[in-house]
Amino acid sequence: MTRSSTPVLLVQDLSVHNAQGLLLEGVDFQADAGEVVAVVGASGSGKSSLLRHLAGLQVPAQGSVQVFGHDLYRSDAGTLQQLRQRMGIMFQGGALWTSLSVNENIELPLRLLAGMGAPERAARARATLALVGLDDAGHKLPAELSGGMRKRAALARALALEPALLLLDEPGSGLDPVSAAKLDDLILQLCRQQGTTIVKVTHDMASVLHVADRMVFLDRQLGRVAAVGHPRELLDHGPPAVRAFLNPHQPSRPS
Ligand SMILES: Nc1ncnc2c1ncn2[C@@H]1O[C@H](COP(=O)(O)OP(=O)(O)OP(=O)(O)O)[C@@H](O)[C@H]1O
Ligand SMILES: [Mg+2]
Repeated sequence: MTRSSTPVLLVQDLSVHNAQGLLLEGVDFQADAGEVVAVVGASGSGKSSLLRHLAGLQVPAQGSVQVFGHDLYRSDAGTLQQLRQRMGIMFQGGALWTSLSVNENIELPLRLLAGMGAPERAARARATLALVGLDDAGHKLPAELSGGMRKRAALARALALEPALLLLDEPGSGLDPVSAAKLDDLILQLCRQQGTTIVKVTHDMASVLHVADRMVFLDRQLGRVAAVGHPRELLDHGPPAVRAFLNPHQPSRPS
C-alpha cells in the first residue's frame, strides 16, 4: 500500500465500551483524506463513546484505531505525541477549562503538544479566534461567553494546531438553526482550505445530507454499526431504520 492510499482514520473490529459494559462491537469504517464522515445514531447509541476511542482517550477492549497508518493504542509515546499534534477534538459540551481564559484554553495544548513558545502561542490563539469570529473574547472566561461563543471557542481550541484530522461531537447542538448552519459552513470552509478530514457526530440530518461523504449509523439495539455509506445512497437504499432516521417525517415504506 502506498503512503497516499493510507486512510487518515481506519477503525477495525472495534468494541466500544462505557463504564457499564459493551455498547457496540465489530465497528469498521474509515475516513480518507479530506472526507467528512458523519457519525449518526439515536441518543445513547454510543456516538460520544466511540469518539473517545477515536481520540485515543479510551483503550478499546477489542479492535484497533489507526490514525495516519499508526495504531493509536499500540504506538510508542513519541509517535503518540506526533499523532496528537495532528488531531483536533471538540467535545460535546465544549469541555473548556472553566478557570482558564479562552486564550489560555487555546494555548495550553499548543504548549503541551507542540512545545510552542509564548509569543507564537499568543499569535496563534489570536489568529484562530479571528477565524471563528471571536476576536475580542480571548481574555474572557468560558462562563462569560454565550453558549454559541463557547462552541466557537471550543472549535478554536480544536483548530489551533491546524489538525489534519478533526473530531467533532455535535458542534451545532444547542445553537439556533442559523448559527448552527453558520458554524457548520465555517468548519467545512476551514477544512476544505486545509484538506482536513472531519469525523463529526451530529443529529443534524440536513447537514449530513449536505456535507458528509460517508455516514456511519450506530444502532444501540443491535449493538453494532447498522450501515456505512454515502448519506444519499443510504437515504434511498439503506436499511429501513436508517432511512427513517435520515427522513423522520416520511411515512415508512417497505425496503
Ligand atoms: N462516563 C460514563 N459512565 C457511565 N455510563 C456512560 C458514560 N458515558 C456514557 N455512558 C452511557 O453510555 C451510553 C452511550 O452514551 P454516549 O454518550 O456515548 O451516547 P451518545 O450516542 O453520544 O448520546 P447523545 O446523542 O445523547 O449524546 C449511554 O447509555 C450513557 O448513559
Ligand atoms: Mg453524545
